[in-house]
This record gives sequence, structure tokens and C-alpha cells, in this order.
Amino acid sequence: MEKTIDEKIQGTPLILDQNKENTRKLFIESYGCQMNFSDSEIVASILAKEGFNTTQNLEDADLVLVNTCSIREKAEQTVRKRLEKYNAVKKINPRMKVGVLGCMAERLKSKFLEEEKIVDLVVGPDAYKDLPNLIEEVDAGRNAVNVILSKEETYGDIAPVRLQSNGVSAFVSITRGCDNMCTFCVVPFTRGRERSRDPQSIISEIEDLVNKNFKEITLLGQNVDSYLWYGGGLKKDFEKASDFQKATAVNFSKLLDMVAAKFPKLRIRFTTSNPQDMTLDVIKVMAKHKNICKYIHLPIQSGSNRILKEMNRLHTREEYFELIDNIKTIIPDCAISQDIITGFPTETEEDHKDTLSLMEYVKYDYGFMFAYSERPGTLAARKMEDDVPEDVKKRRLAEIIELQRNHSEERHQAYLGKTVEILIEKESKKSDQHWSGRTTQNTVAVFPKEQYKIGDFVMVEIEDCTSATLLGKAVGYSDNN
Ligand code: 5AD
Ligand code: SF4
Repeated sequence: MEKTIDEKIQGTPLILDQNKENTRKLFIESYGCQMNFSDSEIVASILAKEGFNTTQNLEDADLVLVNTCSIREKAEQTVRKRLEKYNAVKKINPRMKVGVLGCMAERLKSKFLEEEKIVDLVVGPDAYKDLPNLIEEVDAGRNAVNVILSKEETYGDIAPVRLQSNGVSAFVSITRGCDNMCTFCVVPFTRGRERSRDPQSIISEIEDLVNKNFKEITLLGQNVDSYLWYGGGLKKDFEKASDFQKATAVNFSKLLDMVAAKFPKLRIRFTTSNPQDMTLDVIKVMAKHKNICKYIHLPIQSGSNRILKEMNRLHTREEYFELIDNIKTIIPDCAISQDIITGFPTETEEDHKDTLSLMEYVKYDYGFMFAYSERPGTLAARKMEDDVPEDVKKRRLAEIIELQRNHSEERHQAYLGKTVEILIEKESKKSDQHWSGRTTQNTVAVFPKEQYKIGDFVMVEIEDCTSATLLGKAVGYSDNN
């Protein structure tokens, strides 16, 4: 993955409960996928023990950390602009130190220190436990860099501090890194080899969330279906594991089954799924448990077999259709969303039409669509020319966005007149008289507050919809409360 980029939360600084003994101020903001937001909670947790309280005011900060994304060029440009802003503040507050975390730190390494003179600290996604030492270096007036990628680090032993949480839904990381090597994708280079977290530490983190009254968790990983625990070690080394390790191994369907059975009142989601790794067992486990949400984010990237091959996606259009058919047979009301890239090198009009026809077949509920952005170091950048003109990429992108909008609308229309269960998450952005929550299919619904509270499961009759939101009226509590 790098999933799922929620434009609304990009750059939001994270705020933590204040510890009175802490004297230094940390301003931390995150860009990119949910994994980065989740990692920032780990970083804040590590630094809370080092005397840092978080602040929302850049001007007050002793240390500014920005957790960065490299997935597309635009993501990197956004971070460069933020660095300019920090630079301006540093002129007023010269004591302030600036650190770059995450994927851009990993991609550019110490080059960052040469390119951006204001940066004091560069830390890759597997090196956050080294932050106390690195900050000591910076305090002593030296620049500090740690971009070593790890084969074991999962931060399973660090209790993340839930920052800016609505107290209802939380992310629980289960895998890190990615071994798939899609040719367009920078993630295998910035986040390293794929490794899975000990199921026991996952269960205890969820238990803790349940005790704190959280009602929904999302199991998070670059490629969750590839989850495999056999006592530690890389996925690629599983073949060398002992017979005992193999017999007691936990894969994703087992993990999902365990979590769903242990926490029957908790809503469970997961992201991101990779079509080539998603098994029938996972779909069956989803159908077996009422509390596993009926929603799968299943990126396709392109509908053309030729392009899928160039992307090294390791499955065909036909195999994808088979997976979709299985999902729809086993879980008839399951929502499915996509990621699509337009204008991958050599993409023809014919390939583009294949993508449109694939979309017609699946009729996705949602989608995240992007124009191809060449990323330095990836296989596509090394082997293929970025030869689709920008205006063609943009036109194709506009066409798929338009088609997706129609499909989303069509999907939403099907809810009209139905009564569905909503978990209330927050006040509606548009009205303080309304709650906002989601259906099991992950569609946002808005309805008048009445006597209900955040965290309640409510049955809502859907009366109207837009292309993004369902509108309705609560008719009572659901039996899940
Ligand atoms: N250019 C455009 N989009 C990309 N994505 C990943 N790499 C690139 C790239 N180089 C998209 C994919 C992925 C999503 C998170 O971002 O669709 O699934
Ligand atoms: Fe996702 Fe593939 Fe990139 Fe891994 S390599 S992050 S699976 S797109």
C-alpha cells in the first residue's frame, strides 16, 4: 500500500496528554498514509519519556518533527514547502530543531542535510527507538541521521499514544514493509522488507483499546493479507522455519478470526489488501463474523493485463474478476474500493479503456485515483520512460474519476429507504446538530443527534444521499451496544 491518503488529515499536528514534569515542547505533524499517522503515535510515545510534551503551536516548539511521504512527487513537494515555513519560524526561534521522519527521510538519507540546511535530524521509519540518542547528538550541536532499515522492528513493544483520537476508532499496525516490488512503488525502498508483528502484542493492544471503550479498530499494514507470524523473522524466510513453527504459524485469516472471536462487540476493519495475496479463507472469515466490516479496499492500479504485468502486479484482470466474484457471492453486500494509476509508462488508449471496462464490471463503492508519478530508484524509473504526456494522464484521470463518481452515486442510491447500523464517531463538519458515522461498508452517514452519543451503535433510516454521504434519521439503538 501506502494507504489510504485522507486529504482532510494531512499535516494535522498531533496532540498528546500533557505530562507536567515534561519541559520541552514537540510539534509533530504527519503526511501520507495511515501508517505514518500511526508511526507518529509511536514517536510521540517514545519522546514523552524523554521530557517532551506536544504543542499545537509551531512557534513554541523546541523540536519540530515532520513525518513524510514519498509516494508521489507532489507529496514530497508539500513537505519541502513545510520546511520553508519551519525555516521562517526558526529565524524567530533559533533554538528550534527540525527533524524529518518517514519515507522521505529514508529515500534521501543524509542528502536531506545538504539539500535543506535547516534540517538537523533525519530518521527513517525503522529507527524511531534511536530518537533519544539522536536528539542527544542534536542537542550537542551535531546533525544526526539514522536510516537503517530493520528486518525485525515492528514496535510491537511500544504502546502508541492515541493522538487526536475520537475515542471510538483506532488503527493497530500488524505488518511493516512490503516485499511485492510493484515497479511504480517507492514503498519497498522506503519501508523495507515485510515483517509481521507478534499476534499476542496485537491482541493486547486491542484489549487495551476495548478497555478504553474504543468501538472500532483497523488492522493496518502495507499488505495485510500477507501477514504471517511464525515466531519472528521475515516472510521470505518462512520456508526455512522449523516444522513446529510452520504448524503453529498464524496467517492473516487466522489472525482476523482470532481477533473477531475474542472481541465480538468490536467492529473490525483492515487495510490494505493486495489482490494477489487475498485468500478465500479471509473472505470466509469475514462472512463468518458479524463484527468484521463488510468492506475491502482492493487496489487494482490498471485494468489492462499488459500494464498489470509491467507493474509487476502478479495477477491478471481475469484473476481479479474471480476474486471480486467470490467476494460478491460469499458476502453479497460487501463494499469494495480501488486505487488506480493512470498514465503508467506505455499505457495506450486501449489499456485505458480496459481500466474503464474493469470499473464497469466491479462498480466500486469508492476510489482513490492518481496520475502516474515517476519515483526515483523504482524499477519503472530505471527501466521505462515516463512517456505518457501529462495532459493525456490528466484527461484519463478525469475520465476514471467521473466514472467512479457515477458508480459511487449508484451505490449510494441503493441505500435509500434502508435502515443500516451506524457507529457514531463525531459531530458532522457541516452541522453541530448532526452526528457523523459510518456503515459497515465504510460509507459516511449523517443524521440528527437526538439523544444519541459518540460511540453508540445506532440504526439509521437512509432518506437521501450525495455522491459521498448518506443522510438519514435514527430509529433506535442497534443490538451491538
Ligand atoms: N504514481 C502514482 N500513484 C502511485 N501510487 C503508488 N505509487 C505511485 C506512483 N509512483 C498509488 C497506488 C497505490 C496508492 C497508495 O498510491 O495506487 O495503491
Ligand atoms: Fe502497495 Fe505494491 Fe507499493 Fe507494496 S509495492 S506498497 S503492495 S503498491
